[in-house]
Amino acid sequence: MPIKTLDTVVVNTGSQNDQHSASVPPVYLSTTFKVDLNNEAAQNYDYSRSGNPTRSVLQNQIGKLYRVPQENVLAVSSGMTALDIILRGLVLLNGTEDHTPTIIAGDDLYGGTQRLLNFFKHQTHAVTVHVDTSNFERFKTVFQSLDKVDCVLLESPTNPLCKVVDIPKILRFVKCVSPDTKVIVDNTMMSGLNCNPLQLNPSCDVVYESATKYLNGHHDLMGGVIISKTAEIASKLYFVVNSTGAGLSPMDSWLLVRGLKTLGVRLHQQQRNAMILAHWLEDSCGFKPTSTNKATKTRFVGLRSNPDFKLHQSFNNGPGAVLSFDTGSFEHSKRLVSSKKLNIWAVTVSFGCVNSLLSMPCKMSHASIDPELRKERDFPEDLVRLCCGIENIVDLKKDLLAAMVDADIIEIRDNGKYLYNNLNKHLAVNTTVDNLHKPLSIYEEFYNEDFIRKDSELNIKGSKL
Ligand SMILES: Cc1ncc(COP(=O)(O)O)c(C=O)c1O
Repeated sequence: MPIKTLDTVVVNTGSQNDQHSASVPPVYLSTTFKVDLNNEAAQNYDYSRSGNPTRSVLQNQIGKLYRVPQENVLAVSSGMTALDIILRGLVLLNGTEDHTPTIIAGDDLYGGTQRLLNFFKHQTHAVTVHVDTSNFERFKTVFQSLDKVDCVLLESPTNPLCKVVDIPKILRFVKCVSPDTKVIVDNTMMSGLNCNPLQLNPSCDVVYESATKYLNGHHDLMGGVIISKTAEIASKLYFVVNSTGAGLSPMDSWLLVRGLKTLGVRLHQQQRNAMILAHWLEDSCGFKPTSTNKATKTRFVGLRSNPDFKLHQSFNNGPGAVLSFDTGSFEHSKRLVSSKKLNIWAVTVSFGCVNSLLSMPCKMSHASIDPELRKERDFPEDLVRLCCGIENIVDLKKDLLAAMVDADIIEIRDNGKYLYNNLNKHLAVNTTVDNLHKPLSIYEEFYNEDFIRKDSELNIKGSKL
């Protein structure tokens, strides 16, 4: 049978053996399932903490997305729960009198991940060494300086600085010098549709995603998925899920199965919007280094001007829909994010939703990282993050432009003909209105040319590397 595209497999839930032949899988809210002591082997469920049919349907769908058997997938109550379980099940128990569990993680991490790693440091003494994982030589030096590394935790692109981590290269290095080190990938920024680190060669050990983001896409549930390379790893992690009751609830599992069906179309539209916006911010709004102001910048892996563009493209099927830009002024960024002119862009944390979101990471998603540490890691306090939704790109641009004008960042000149960036003196033709009549932009061609999911049928990008 020909291999179906990933867009298709997440829509199709297959036959459910339902007594009424329902075309949508039913939700099993029951916490208990009757036990037949004469036929225990045929019994798949007894208590929902241990297993639930609706959660199984979801785990099967995620398995199809990552091309692993359903048994290798666990659906849990949040992305942070996923990381907690992975670390408890695979890393923390490695501690002995002579060895402290050691983790290497990036230095541009989601604030909640940083908080959990700090918590483990204080509670269990597991050490996390942070390094800029987008700098391979630096990573290698740090790795080699440590006695034994139990786990490497990777995320690419990083959030919100959009740095690209060469996951295939790090995997080749780690699996060659220390095969027992577990390599874990937080794939939330890409989703299984854009990247499958389990199919790289060599592959990582475990991938997890905050399903709260792209997989569900509607910001109406919290969830996490853990996808293991082997059944053996999955069974160690299942032990923790079953022991703690961290499995995703039946109702949330059902909602997530539904959300997943539109992943392909949502992500396509979100990425297209992100692609157009990133080019517009750079070219028309002037968020790029100029001779008078080096502090303005647009950060997005889909920009050809990004030095890591080719690297990202080599193991991903799309750029994702999170981008950020440095205005060069903390006060102006704050005014932009607080502007009452924002009607479409919602000022909230998170990403991956059908609605477009705007935030100031240092005050929101990354506020849990100590300001001193942010400074040490060159985290720009003026950074504004955009997480594109599926709305019409013309409306998104106009809404953002109105807020940038309100915040005195951009000035509209000559009856709307030009955009002038007050902070770095960049002047360009205003393309916002033009696009109302020409919704198909040249940038869409870039997207199609650079990322259209040529390889997504097999999702093999990177495995050839
Ligand atoms: C990259 C990344 N990983 C993990 C998480 C945690 O997921 P959750 O909020 O579902 O616990 C987030 C949340 O924002 C995230 O951005």
